[in-house]
Amino acid sequence: MSEAIGIGMLGAGNVGGGVVEALQQGAERYAARVGRPLELRRALVRDASRPRPGLATEQLTTDVDDVIGDPGTQIVIELLGGEDPAREYIERALRAGRHVVTANKEVIAKYGAELLAVASRHNVRLLYEASVGGGIPIVQPLRRDLLANDVHTVTAIINGTTNFMLTAMAQDGADYEDVLAEAHRLGYAEPDPTDDVEGIDASYKLAILCGLAFHVAIAPDEVIRQGITTLTASDFTYAAELGHTIKLLATGRLSDGELVASVRPTLIGYGEPLAKVDGVLNAVQVEGDLVGRVLFEGPGAGPRPTAGAVLADVLDVARDLVVGREPLNQITYTAATVRAPDDHESRYYIRMTGANQPGVLAKVATALGEHGINIASVIQFGMEEDAPTEEFVITTYLANGGRLRTALEQIDGFDEVVVGNVLAMAS
Ligand SMILES: NC(=O)c1ccc[n+]([C@@H]2O[C@H](COP(=O)([O-])OP(=O)(O)OC[C@H]3O[C@@H](n4cnc5c(N)ncnc54)[C@H](OP(=O)(O)O)[C@@H]3O)[C@@H](O)[C@H]2O)c1
Repeated sequence: MSEAIGIGMLGAGNVGGGVVEALQQGAERYAARVGRPLELRRALVRDASRPRPGLATEQLTTDVDDVIGDPGTQIVIELLGGEDPAREYIERALRAGRHVVTANKEVIAKYGAELLAVASRHNVRLLYEASVGGGIPIVQPLRRDLLANDVHTVTAIINGTTNFMLTAMAQDGADYEDVLAEAHRLGYAEPDPTDDVEGIDASYKLAILCGLAFHVAIAPDEVIRQGITTLTASDFTYAAELGHTIKLLATGRLSDGELVASVRPTLIGYGEPLAKVDGVLNAVQVEGDLVGRVLFEGPGAGPRPTAGAVLADVLDVARDLVVGREPLNQITYTAATVRAPDDHESRYYIRMTGANQPGVLAKVATALGEHGINIASVIQFGMEEDAPTEEFVITTYLANGGRLRTALEQIDGFDEVVVGNVLAMAS
């Protein structure tokens, strides 16, 4: 077989280790599928003195130029994570004429459009299948297989850590702090879990999905975002009473050129396919005019599934190199108005605690009514008759986010009522 295609790696941690292992185990079949062998050359790490399975000491380097500047390397795989220095290194690799494959959602969400433009100018490809949904094929299906559709809605569970936690809360009646401790114990949660539990990680992935699905550019900080930290075991009890569970849903919806994008804990009916996506699994549901509804489900993380997605991109580039196909990066984004949280409409779930005395519920209902919020149901479990306070939940019909916020500010000012938690309900 002819000359090998050289691969350089930036990062050899969890996913990098999976890539090295798969490249070795699959060497023969990859060579057969591409038409030329793949050769793993140098790998950038922080600590080159630490041995890495499958990599010889002389392959490890702490100098990025040993990877990007290696004339034998055609494809650079970026698996450093985070924004700095990953963004800079990706750009340098593209400018040096290297094709780049990355799993970095933060860099692609924030700088994807400009990096794709750099790639086009330098006649190389930038691919990022593993940046959303780990092992689930979703980037390429949106780019290719669903391209003929007018996609109007994407609804996704794209953070395994929080899905593990919410599943445990729903199934075991556990409280937030307990499931976070369990997620730490099992290695599903980072020592600092902020990015996951505040929905930041999911907002990066949703921004990428919106770009692909709707062909519009949206910055991650334009995504309406609410974390899961205020959820309690009682929210799951009330949700169950309503025939719902609670998921951290990432939702993008485009209508009349206006985009609504949100990541927030959402009540979702048991009958919905996404309600059954449990544990660390991820899923992305896409709705388009031709296809109707399709669901992609699978492992959203883990070295082997993620390595599979990374290497799919590598093999794609390698095949192009073998047949001499011109790189094609073009993604054309149109401008869309992104709707602000106050202009957003949803059904809502509101948990409150009120003084156990006549007229409290009526006062709350009047305040909501004055702001045009229509109550759909009220739930209250039997309390002790002489308890000083009682908890109750109100659900609304479709309501304007801004008007609800104003109404709740007014209600929070009442001496007899404390607003506990406000969650969206999938409609
Ligand atoms: N983990 C998953 O399941 C998963 C799933 C989907 C996507 N991703 C994405 O994949 C990427 C890699 O994740 P990971 O879990 O493999 O991360 P990781 O285990 O922390 O590995 C990061 C690697 O990059 C190296 N590195 C980091 N900063 C560096 C710097 N400034 N200079 C040189 N080397 C540096 C580290 O070197 P040392 O080894 O010497 O510390 C390590 O080898 C991230 O973008 C992540 O979001 C991960």
